[in-house]
Amino acid sequence: MSLLRTENMTMRFGGVVAVSDLNVHLDKNEIIGLIGPNGAGKTTAFNMISGVYKPTVGKIILGKEEVQGGQTVTVEKDITGMKPSAITKLGIARTFQNIRLFKELSVLENVVIANHLRLESNWVSSVVRTPDYTKKETAMYDKSMALLEKVGLAELKDEKSYSLPYGMQRRLEIARALATKPHILLLDEPAAGMNPQESDELMRFIGKIRDEFDLSILMIEHHMQLVMGICERIYVLDYGITIAEGNPYEIQNNPKVIEAYLGVDD
Ligand SMILES: Nc1ncnc2c1ncn2[C@@H]1O[C@H](COP(=O)(O)OP(=O)(O)OP(=O)(O)O)[C@@H](O)[C@H]1O
Ligand SMILES: [Mg+2]
Repeated sequence: MSLLRTENMTMRFGGVVAVSDLNVHLDKNEIIGLIGPNGAGKTTAFNMISGVYKPTVGKIILGKEEVQGGQTVTVEKDITGMKPSAITKLGIARTFQNIRLFKELSVLENVVIANHLRLESNWVSSVVRTPDYTKKETAMYDKSMALLEKVGLAELKDEKSYSLPYGMQRRLEIARALATKPHILLLDEPAAGMNPQESDELMRFIGKIRDEFDLSILMIEHHMQLVMGICERIYVLDYGITIAEGNPYEIQNNPKVIEAYLGVDD
């Protein structure tokens, strides 16, 4: 069953077609790669799925398993053009190519803030600090701490986020995304700037959180070892056009891909 599907998703910026007729599907618990040279349209695709941009053409469909009358059925929802906050609430979370942490805040505070999105209270209760709000906030700190334990950042909870090594900052970004309780996680170049050892660790980490948090993951990445090592299927974009789709073996041996991407990289 597809949890997420795009139908001819297209984004034009003036005369530039950044993404053209993109049809991807992400099934339950899959890890899917989205690769391609710089400027291929990968981040733009994420921006459409996460609600930053409304596609010029096409649709984004979210699939959800629901129990109806004792049977599990798939319910589809068209989320095209919905606001980022609404999309987050529907269970899609993302990280950014350029790390977006609150640098002056601690590791724990960064996760707590991400958790706020899920805190169901209105602004009045947060200003007045009603007992209900305070109780919820305490629970949120506990939840955030539990999450830090799970991602291996608990010991660093009081560190300012800017002081973390790069690999840990990337991991904190993922923790922040996980705080919104997603079913679907979009990772935009999670290994960017990492050394081989860090990116190796990241690969294991992504596999681990997929299992522990029951996630389906769509990942943009340039590190070929990481992509080939962890992705079950891969889509290749070049100038906004999908030039290939397949398993790692098929992608590595596809002449179009070698020409457009791997050839350049090597
Ligand atoms: N807001 C925007 N306005 C105009 N053009 C844009 C905008 N965002 C992206 N583009 C253009 O769309 C194309 C795709 O950009 P995008 O950032 O999606 O590429 P990418 O595949 O993520 O590249 P990279 O690997 O360098 O991150 C580029 O030509 C880019 O200049
Ligand atoms: Mg990008």
